[in-house]
Amino acid sequence: MSAQKKDGGGAGAPRRLTVPQIAGRKGGEPVVCLTAYSAPFARLLDPHCDVLLVGDSMGMALYGMETTLGVTLDMVIAHGRAVVRGSARALVVLDMPFGSYESSPADAFRNASRALAETGAQAVKLEGGLAMAPTIRFLVERGVPVMGHVGLRPQSVHNIGGYAAQGRRRAEWEPILADARAVADAGAFATVVEGVAEPLGREIAAAAPNVIIGIGASAACDGQILVTEDMLGLFDWAPRFVRPYAELGGVISDAVARYAADVRARRFPGPEQTYGMREEKDGE
Ligand code: KIV
Repeated sequence: MSAQKKDGGGAGAPRRLTVPQIAGRKGGEPVVCLTAYSAPFARLLDPHCDVLLVGDSMGMALYGMETTLGVTLDMVIAHGRAVVRGSARALVVLDMPFGSYESSPADAFRNASRALAETGAQAVKLEGGLAMAPTIRFLVERGVPVMGHVGLRPQSVHNIGGYAAQGRRRAEWEPILADARAVADAGAFATVVEGVAEPLGREIAAAAPNVIIGIGASAACDGQILVTEDMLGLFDWAPRFVRPYAELGGVISDAVARYAADVRARRFPGPEQTYGMREEKDGE
């Protein structure tokens, strides 16, 4: 380890939150998480967030895909690099995309270690409960911090048949509780619990020894995450669990309409946006 690394990157450099610091927030100050896919957004979110997730939700939110299944490891790595460059304080977590970790723990390690090495992010997230527990253990024991993801798992959309909330009947609780338990026992420092009935989210947060991050789960979770574009109101539609904190879709649409009108009427560019000539001296 170099002296520079030990100091956290030189005088005045803000230190990033670490995996043990986030893990230590169990039952304490709620962990603020949002998704980020680009350097400019990471820069805006970083002062306010504890965790930035380079989510495979980029497939839908950024690339206009119908599901998250078309996202590749190379896409996550490219966006992950941008998010690490644009942030200084938040822990950056990379989503392992569909097909990059399920076949074997060894494949999962090869892909996760490559993604961390090529981006500078600190942890990976993967979907799955009991079935993925051996893979989570394999990664954690080899130095890859893992965030789990149980409840509604968007990469299993075709198995589930849609994105309906889970655990709305008591009889559905036990497999989801078992998933959350298995992921924590395998060593995940945190687990995302997505789209479950509120009492089930509350129960998981109370029972799990690790940090539970809710999305459409319960305010009793140890932290919350949303897709940033959803909470900024960029789209016509958002899931029920999103509270829109802005109406950016309308703001952008209005700005573009005014720009288009100005271009058509030759009001843009004006004198402030054009270059005059420099004064020429004799002989030039
Ligand atoms: O892909 C993603 O952004 C996620 C979060 C919504 C939890 O998995």
